[in-house]
Amino acid sequence: MTKKNSMFAALVAIAVTAFVGGVNAEEAIIAGGMNAGEGDSKAGKTKSELCQGCHGADGISIDPATYPNLAGQYAGYIFKQVQDFQLGNRQDDTMSAMAGMVTSRQDLKDIAAYFASRKQMKGKPSGSKAAKSGARLYKSGNKKLGEYGACVRCHGKNGKGKGKSNSLFPVIGGQQKAYIIKQLKDFKSGKRTNDPAGMMAMVAKGLSDKEITAVADYVSGL
Ligand code: HEC
Ligand code: HEC
Repeated sequence: MTKKNSMFAALVAIAVTAFVGGVNAEEAIIAGGMNAGEGDSKAGKTKSELCQGCHGADGISIDPATYPNLAGQYAGYIFKQVQDFQLGNRQDDTMSAMAGMVTSRQDLKDIAAYFASRKQMKGKPSGSKAAKSGARLYKSGNKKLGEYGACVRCHGKNGKGKGKSNSLFPVIGGQQKAYIIKQLKDFKSGKRTNDPAGMMAMVAKGLSDKEITAVADYVSGL
């Protein structure tokens, strides 16, 4: 391991201990304070009509090139992201405006619970050459990042994170490919900075654009 790699390893180790080790305590603060099981998904169905216009009635995007899926995403994660848009911690012209329309925390919990309760997003493997190299990167990381860049450590074997009780790590398996590419590039360039302890920025900065496309091809097919 090179010196640079071992320093990176140490940083990731700190980040992961802080956020994986103390999930319950940390989650309440970082994930905006929504715990699994909170929120009324039935009420959320009606309250999310606006959202469904882009994210789909069942949380599967109506336009894969532009909008992400929310189906089966962890409620705490949806809640945190919308709050981040509201607070300006995450910026997108369209979505920031939409987030501003949700004025009550209870409404946001209900909406998040609704999308979380939908049949979880699932992709179809593309079988492409890129997806194969993306799979290697997903499972083992690359030269620059070492195994610390291996997505599987935080996003789980099938890209479904670490389960409902840990909404720190989002579902990415079966997410729209174009959206995954955009997020990785946004983390890499520093446009998106709302990731706890800069965990995703550290990873994305160690990926080439070609690797980003390859891993997105693989992940969207999970
Ligand atoms: C006009 C289209 C549109 C509407 C309506 C809309 N969104 Fe979005 N949403 C977007 C776009 C575009 C993005 C991706 C932003 C980016 O690239 O960072 C997004 C991203 C998100 C994300 C982040 C997903 C993730 O995996 O991190 C969440 C959560 C979200 N929207 C929830 C909502 C909710 C809740 C509503 C209703 C109050 C809503 N959206 C309404 C367009 C829309
Ligand atoms: C050290 C843990 C860790 C590793 C390793 C990691 N991620 Fe992440 N990732 C996160 C966290 C935490 C978030 C949520 C950031 C937030 O709260 O805004 C995230 C978010 C994402 C998102 C945005 C999801 C969304 O819905 O907006 C994508 C895409 C992503 N990761 C892809 C990857 C890929 C691909 C890899 C491997 C190359 C990877 N991640 C490796 C922790 C990690």
